Amino acid sequence: MGSMRVVVVAVLCAFALHAGFSVTNAQLSPTFYRETCPNLFNIVFQVIFQASLTDPRIGASLVRLHFHDCFVQGCDASVLLNNTAIIESEQDAIPNNNSIRGLDVVNNIKTAVENSCPGTVSCADILTIAAEIGSILGGGPGWLVPLGRKDSLTANRTLANQNLPPPFFNLTQLKASFAVQGLNTTDLVALSGAHTFGRAHCSTFNNRLYNFNNTGNPDPTLNTVYLATLRQICPQNATGNNLTNLDLTTPDQFDNKYYSNLQQLNGLLQSDQELFSTPAADTIPIVNSFSSNQNTFFDNFRASMIKMGNIGVLTGAEGEIRLQCNFVNGDSFGLASMTSKNSKQNMVSQS
Ligand code: HEM
Ligand SMILES: *[C@@H]1O[C@H](CO)[C@@H](O)[C@H](O)[C@H]1NC(C)=O
Ligand SMILES: *[C@@H]1O[C@H](CO)[C@@H](O)[C@H](O)[C@H]1NC(C)=O
Ligand SMILES: *[C@@H]1O[C@H](CO)[C@@H](O)[C@H](O)[C@H]1NC(C)=O
Ligand SMILES: *[C@@H]1O[C@H](CO)[C@@H](O)[C@H](O)[C@H]1NC(C)=O
Ligand SMILES: *[C@@H]1O[C@H](CO)[C@@H](O)[C@H](O)[C@H]1NC(C)=O
Ligand SMILES: *[C@@H]1O[C@H](CO)[C@@H](O)[C@H](O)[C@H]1NC(C)=O
Ligand SMILES: *[C@@H]1O[C@H](CO)[C@@H](O)[C@H](O)[C@H]1NC(C)=O
Ligand SMILES: *[C@@H]1O[C@H](CO)[C@@H](O)[C@H](O)[C@H]1NC(C)=O
Repeated sequence: MGSMRVVVVAVLCAFALHAGFSVTNAQLSPTFYRETCPNLFNIVFQVIFQASLTDPRIGASLVRLHFHDCFVQGCDASVLLNNTAIIESEQDAIPNNNSIRGLDVVNNIKTAVENSCPGTVSCADILTIAAEIGSILGGGPGWLVPLGRKDSLTANRTLANQNLPPPFFNLTQLKASFAVQGLNTTDLVALSGAHTFGRAHCSTFNNRLYNFNNTGNPDPTLNTVYLATLRQICPQNATGNNLTNLDLTTPDQFDNKYYSNLQQLNGLLQSDQELFSTPAADTIPIVNSFSSNQNTFFDNFRASMIKMGNIGVLTGAEGEIRLQCNFVNGDSFGLASMTSKNSKQNMVSQS
């Protein structure tokens, strides 16, 4: 018993050292802002709902933004930091560049929140709430969002390139990438279900269409009808980079069609199809279970989103509450930029 506990502690320490952050998250609570910003959820909801009227994809983009925040030094809003003299922005990392969206909407949320509850709510918590609202707006599950994160004083572009899994990872690599974050195989399958909505560029899957793995043929685990469609959207040697729906069945709905797509070999990314088409994989029964019962998927998605939201959080005296999400407080580059953007931000917050 005693030696068992020593082993557990040793493993936890190894994990914390390896991942570079503390595993503490006991201070997060869904009621964290109950006294200090009671209307927080409604404020965030209103801004995202307004944005969704002209951008039906925004919910998906915000879910992804939270993921890309949490996998890089924890859910600390490091992804939001712009380049300055002291910051190498994660936005320029390969998985983010020309790909992450919603940064302007997050700034609009922050402005609206600051108007009601100045200096109170962290950008990391805003990203977490925005992800939950993104799910709800797509028709997906909601949950009580644990809150109380602080914002980082740093970003790490190298770590973003290292920790965010690319779409050509096989199942072994995907599992390893999630395990680094303390997420297991069930979490991998449930969270990949976020690809039930949103879009992807041709560049993220065209390796599957013409010359997969240097075979001179397409990916054999890609449905041939879907293959023909995708070849039209992404012609060989095209100079542009079209977008297409991650979920060909219900592109903007948060539902469990992602999993039935996989069963029909209609997964868009290699990393999606791997979950069902890797021979004898332990992910196959999980895909089948989520495909046959949407409530099972939703229950698991909720649990895994909360688990992801706990990764490497800063709490208490750690970090800070940024006044402008793109800049660490007192970063002179940030202050200058904030002043010049003031009038624009006020306009946005009143609309
Ligand atoms: C399992 C490993 C994952 C890989 C390899 C992966 C890869 C990708 C790629 C390549 C795109 C398209 C980006 C573009 O072309 O601009 C994408 C989009 C997206 N991803 Fe993932 N992803 C993974 C996991 C996740 C997770 C865990 C979530 C959230 C829980 C997520 C949510 C999304 C969403 C919602 C979109 C669409 C975003 C939009 O339309 O703006 N992904 N992902
Ligand atoms: C942050 O950088 C992005 C480009 O990466 C730019 O569009 C945006 O205006 C910058 N934000 C601020 C507040 O300067
Ligand atoms: C990001 O994309 C832009 C525009 O495509 C490109 O000019 C720039 O070199 C890219 N940045 C990085 C770090 O790859
Ligand atoms: C960024 O992450 C890399 C890769 O894990 C690490 O070697 C480096 O020390 C980190 N840089 C900072 C400033 O934390
Ligand atoms: C996955 O990719 C890694 C790295 O390329 C390779 O070592 C491993 O054998 C692959 N696993 C499978 C099951 O293909
Ligand atoms: C993954 O972790 C959750 C708890 O976070 C647990 O309920 C589930 O059984 C685990 N799944 C696997 C495959 O270990
Ligand atoms: C890619 O090709 C290599 C060698 O030809 C093979 O070992 C590997 O299994 C292939 N990977 C996939 C995903 O087909
Ligand atoms: C695309 O480029 C490759 C290599 O340059 C060439 O063999 C192929 O014929 C081209 N395909 C089309 C459709 O132009
Ligand atoms: C974009 O997709 C359309 C079909 O939807 C196709 O005709 C066009 O050639 C594609 N353009 C590029 C640059 O891939």
